[in-house]
Amino acid sequence: MKKRILFVCLGNICRSPAAEAILLYKLKELKLLDQFEVDSAGTGNWHVGKMADSRMREAALNRGINIKSRARQISLDDFKNFDLILTMDNANLEHVKSLSKDLDPRFKAKIKPLLEYAIDKDIIEVPDPYYGGDNGFDLVLDLLDVSIDELIRDIKVD
Ligand code: 4NP
Repeated sequence: MKKRILFVCLGNICRSPAAEAILLYKLKELKLLDQFEVDSAGTGNWHVGKMADSRMREAALNRGINIKSRARQISLDDFKNFDLILTMDNANLEHVKSLSKDLDPRFKAKIKPLLEYAIDKDIIEVPDPYYGGDNGFDLVLDLLDVSIDELIRDIKVD
């Protein structure tokens, strides 16, 4: 059975598409791609259908990572179609939890902040880079990179 992982942020144009692309990149390097299904979504719908933010795509490309996904909004089906939903910040976490509160727990993805996998336990949220300066995108990529390494380690042991 494939392990199915969904990353969630607010707009699905900065943090979660970058997380999706980084995990896909690392799984490909490890030749584990066929064992996973990876996707991303936003809690909001403003950017549905759009490519990721050009600043995020450029920062990722500088690291050899190509973000190809188009934005979509999370749906109730996602809770049964994925095993693990990983959120970027506390607002995403609360939003995702509240969307799923009436669903049958037997058919529900586990919901966690991605940075539970981070090594630095003082940082619990991936900051929203959308209205910040350009270096915000590199900070996001650094946080994603380290925590996704730990995520892979954890999932491989499961
Ligand atoms: P993301 O960043 O949640 O990482 O995709 C954002 C993108 C767009 C907006 C907010 C955050 N926005 O307000 O349009």
